[in-house]
Amino acid sequence: MRKIIIAIDGFSACGKSSTAKMVANKLGFNYIDSGAMYRAVTYYFIEHYINPSNPKEVEKALDKIDISFIFNEKLGFSETYLNGSNVEGHIRKMEVTQRVSEISALPVVRRRLVDQQRKLGKKRGIVMDGRDIGTNVFPDAELKIFMVADLTVRAGRRQKELLEKDQLVGLPEIKENLKKRDKIDSEREENPLRKAKDAYEIDSSYLTLEEQVEKVLQLATEKMIIHNE
Ligand code: CDP
Ligand code: CDP
Repeated sequence: MRKIIIAIDGFSACGKSSTAKMVANKLGFNYIDSGAMYRAVTYYFIEHYINPSNPKEVEKALDKIDISFIFNEKLGFSETYLNGSNVEGHIRKMEVTQRVSEISALPVVRRRLVDQQRKLGKKRGIVMDGRDIGTNVFPDAELKIFMVADLTVRAGRRQKELLEKDQLVGLPEIKENLKKRDKIDSEREENPLRKAKDAYEIDSSYLTLEEQVEKVLQLATEKMIIHNE
């Protein structure tokens, strides 16, 4: 069957990456977490005290950043590497989460990462999740999903995840962060978070992850049949 591109966009903690990973595994596609790339850049900026409002400093820093994904056989999915080091344990921490939308709004950062994302998707047969995949990175993706969910449900999911990594963060702080990121991500000038006209909206508030994956798989199968004809 034809190898298609599946773009999954939407707000934080709607289940984009969990769904994308499971759909990719089921279809034998590659999964690419575009948010991890923005997080890796943010982590580098924090570690190297890069001033985001100094364009020269930002350009110089970007020249030194190499992001790659390496498949972990044991886990069954790819992990993010920054200049050769596995940074999965660092990039999901609150200190990165607090800064990532500000850094992601910089046009020069977006252009670099979007170029790399397009190269990664060249052979098709991929599932990529993020904020601008269906609208900007792959406007020709055969299947576009836009995920939404209730803010309180999303915050609860994120808190549970952080607790599993021994990070105790209060619900008000998580909610505040989600609201702030939603706002910056939706209002930035360069490639804001938007639902593509041809995207299918899924509200995951009252869906289990399995139900959500099933919905995307059904749509993907339909698209693969249509595009194979
Ligand atoms: O996992 P979560 O939904 O919290 O976020 P993520 O997918 O890891 O993305 C982190 C941040 O990166 C988002 O809040 C956006 O600011 C930025 N991002 C973006 O601007 N464009 C993308 N394609 C993906 C992420
Ligand atoms: O990528 P995104 O930020 O949209 O969300 P995620 O990281 O895939 O999901 C955040 C958390 O919500 C994960 O622990 C998922 O297992 C959980 N989740 C859930 O409990 N029910 C859903 N329908 C979707 C996600």
